[in-house]
Amino acid sequence: MQQPKLRSKVRGTDREIGEVTRIIVDPLSHHISHLVVSVNGRGGPERQIESIHIQSVGDDLVQLRLSSGEVEGLPAFTRDGYVSIHDIEIAHLEDHLHVESGEVLVPLPELERNVPRRNFFAKFTHVIGLFIGLPLAWPVLRYLMKPMYQPFDNGWISIGNANKIKKDDSGVQFKFKRKVKEAYMPEQEIDKNAWVLKATPEVLDKIYHGKDMDFRDEKGRVVWTNKKDVPYVAFSGKCPHLGCGYKWRKHKVLGEVFLCPCHLSIYDAAGKVLDGPAPRPLDPLPIQVTPSGDIKIIDMEFKAGTKTQTRII
Ligand code: FES
Repeated sequence: MQQPKLRSKVRGTDREIGEVTRIIVDPLSHHISHLVVSVNGRGGPERQIESIHIQSVGDDLVQLRLSSGEVEGLPAFTRDGYVSIHDIEIAHLEDHLHVESGEVLVPLPELERNVPRRNFFAKFTHVIGLFIGLPLAWPVLRYLMKPMYQPFDNGWISIGNANKIKKDDSGVQFKFKRKVKEAYMPEQEIDKNAWVLKATPEVLDKIYHGKDMDFRDEKGRVVWTNKKDVPYVAFSGKCPHLGCGYKWRKHKVLGEVFLCPCHLSIYDAAGKVLDGPAPRPLDPLPIQVTPSGDIKIIDMEFKAGTKTQTRII
């Protein structure tokens, strides 16, 4: 049978149900074991359907042997307990799998899920060791960690001129250099980037939800406020999933989007997650644009992999 594609429409025996949002693969047989279907279209509740319930697979349609009521009665899909195939090595998986880009998952092995129980005594031993070793290591740790407790750098950095932006709601990359000092290393200059767009009111509304956006220092004091109706928006150049660099790309279904090649997170022009494992939207940065078009940002960084935004630099 042809392999189901991500985003294919899914039909039950009575009516159209939704679309395929993820595919789950058996890591041993390399065969597709389940489809995850968002009921009533993208963003709807997700149900996990065993592949034995698939009657046929067409180019863009998966026909099920279940009715829409039976699918809606299945338990909700939860992402816990699965890992993306981009995060683990499964030999020769690509030889068997021809699905299009998107989230393809395999179940976490049972042993992995039971790690807390299996490792209890091992961890207990580590804790005892820590209590013995900490007084000896503390002076060294304090020296190494000192820079982590330095106040965040809220200095403005000029990254380029707004005349580089030719089209509204279109991501433009601005590269810049930033001086960093890490632990005991000498200060060095690193290459960084941010994505800036001139947003239409619709996109601004998706980013700011009608409210100005505050940015804070390490003590929680507001250092800058992005006004909700200023059209220039900057996003940190790091993907909030695991910190990779992403690009502004044309997607054959979704049009122009921000696409992260590491694990295929996709964001719209407002930074909203459209697909992939990213846990939160792209991180807006403080931005101001002078009358001559000079774009300045505060280059904040936020913890990767978390649903809520936590500033770390
Ligand atoms: S780092 Fe994983 S999707 Fe971007």
